[in-house]
Amino acid sequence: MLSVENLRVVYHDVISVLNGVSLKAAGGQISVIIGANGAGKTTLLRAIGGMLDIYEGDIIEGDIKIGEASVRGLDSTDIIRKFSLTYVMEDRPVFWYLTIEENLAAAAYSRWDGAVKADMEKVFEYFPVLRKLRDQKAGYTSGGEQQMLAIGMSLMTRPKILLFDEPSLGLAPLVSEELFRIIQRLNQEGMTVLLVEQNAHAALQIGHHGYVLENGRVVLEGTAGALLENEDVREFYLGAGAKERKSYQDAKRYKRRKRWL
Ligand SMILES: Nc1ncnc2c1ncn2[C@@H]1O[C@H](COP(=O)(O)OP(=O)(O)OP(=O)(O)O)[C@@H](O)[C@H]1O
Ligand SMILES: [Mg+2]
Repeated sequence: MLSVENLRVVYHDVISVLNGVSLKAAGGQISVIIGANGAGKTTLLRAIGGMLDIYEGDIIEGDIKIGEASVRGLDSTDIIRKFSLTYVMEDRPVFWYLTIEENLAAAAYSRWDGAVKADMEKVFEYFPVLRKLRDQKAGYTSGGEQQMLAIGMSLMTRPKILLFDEPSLGLAPLVSEELFRIIQRLNQEGMTVLLVEQNAHAALQIGHHGYVLENGRVVLEGTAGALLENEDVREFYLGAGAKERKSYQDAKRYKRRKRWL
């Protein structure tokens, strides 16, 4: 459904960050992207969501398609309105001085169908804590509550495709578990999900397919199950094999890196 084809992105005309990324997020599935800091994960989501120009970034080659239609070069409002694709950003932008309820209403700006109340009820059903806090200013809520609000705001646009950038970042384990369950539920109710996560284990557990991004390239892909079993993924992203790594140290690490790059 969503496909990225040989995408190259630069910032400020010179800083090359994506060097020919190709991947697919199949309709109705959860596709997961893992990768180290600076690999280009956020840049990829910005490109798909039509947000690159805000950051002085440009697509210099390749294409992004939803179905057969190219969305390359469209801005985020068009992408939301015409393609029902919403991007939940890493830094959880919410309006601090507005209440939870006002934030949700504001997020429905791209729609004029009057169903805002009904959709807000649906958001409160996913996140009961937001109902309790509906009159609270967003700036006075916790990091986890703000993340739920950010997701709730994206749901107000009635997305068919949802991009998540590290939704579990900085959340307590129980809150993050709940979040992954909700993402899984959204997917089961029909949403296509592209999920960027540092918490590779939790993400691959709920995901169908996964990609490993390194230095602006996809170096490995497979079913989520296969990636969970993959020796390199286990060593580099799932924190397994620490004992083994000690004995072989860098030689082994280097060899594996070479194989990937
Ligand atoms: N606006 C920008 N201008 C210049 N360089 C940028 C800009 N935004 C990101 N970069 C650079 O692009 C590279 C990839 O950044 P990006 O944020 O996409 O990585 P990431 O995989 O999301 O990392 P993280 O896991 O830390 O979130 C980094 O080297 C970063 O410094
Ligand atoms: Mg990032």
